Amino acid sequence: SWTMLNIVEDSVEAVRRQVGDGRAICALSGGVDSAVAAAIVQRAIGERLTCVFVDHGLLRKGEAEQVERDFVAATGVKLRVVDASERFIKALEGVTDPEEKRKIIGREFIRVFEDEQRAIMADGPVEFLVQGTLYPDVVESGGGTGTANIKSHHNVGGLPEDLQFKLVEPLRALFKDEVRRAGEELGLPAAMVWRQPFPGPGLGIRIVGEVTRDRLAILREADAIAREELSRAGLDRQIWQCPVVLLADVRSVGVQGDGRTYGHPVVLRPVTSEDAMTADWARVPYDVLSRISTRITNEVREINRVVLDVTSKPPGTIEWE
Ligand code: XMP
Repeated sequence: SWTMLNIVEDSVEAVRRQVGDGRAICALSGGVDSAVAAAIVQRAIGERLTCVFVDHGLLRKGEAEQVERDFVAATGVKLRVVDASERFIKALEGVTDPEEKRKIIGREFIRVFEDEQRAIMADGPVEFLVQGTLYPDVVESGGGTGTANIKSHHNVGGLPEDLQFKLVEPLRALFKDEVRRAGEELGLPAAMVWRQPFPGPGLGIRIVGEVTRDRLAILREADAIAREELSRAGLDRQIWQCPVVLLADVRSVGVQGDGRTYGHPVVLRPVTSEDAMTADWARVPYDVLSRISTRITNEVREINRVVLDVTSKPPGTIEWE
């Protein structure tokens, strides 16, 4: 739309003024905020922006490719991809406590990002760090500026405060729906623009129990099926998000094919919400639930049971961990 075009052009211009002939870096998460922020800065300063995508191995099916291939194709952004999944899984070995998982994932992220930052700075100084801070984040954190004031809980991209960067925050005046419209205006991949909320620690906090490569592969398949069926049923805009949770330490008896199985359950957690502070369980039509259940148990060998979470928030949080 005309106004959105103006908003995008104005913020491109503002970034150009702020950064001058300096250089900037930006961490991409796969989410819409960092993607739109990066795309705006790319328009403003081109090659003087370097994006870093730390693939922690905890994203869902197809999401790493969306960043590496589709986002780059749409924007022409200069991107460094770090496949750090080995490192994250190693660091998570034996860890089952949810907060411990978050801490480890956040810590490893910062370490990997700092290594990249050093490598980028070998070509010359970088003064600016791009962040996808939105207006509601600004309000919530008291409107402070100048430092990396991100809620540690809510962003794996939560960077340490001692990083000596000036922040570039092109989305500071925008609400989420405006960010999505800006993303469309910028021609970003629809899957990124319309992505539902997804936690920074990713599938790492959707495996109840230890995170392993095998378990991630199982959950990734089950999650992809649930997302596909919900989309096909046209429910994406009605549902806030639908975590699929693997109860990796639980087994139950089942019968699949010609034999008895002893597999794992997954939990479907479809919710409706306005702002994630409160939520209700989404009344997904039975036939959609049925298709999801049938497909998951047919197509993912290790899963022999699909259960539905019918808890509101409060008392249950949206995520299980
Ligand atoms: P809960 O589970 O607290 O989730 O009801 C509320 C919203 O926040 C997301 N969430 C997170 N996002 N890092 C994030 O970036 C996290 O550690 C995290 N934990 C929960 C969750 O998906 C929901 O949208």
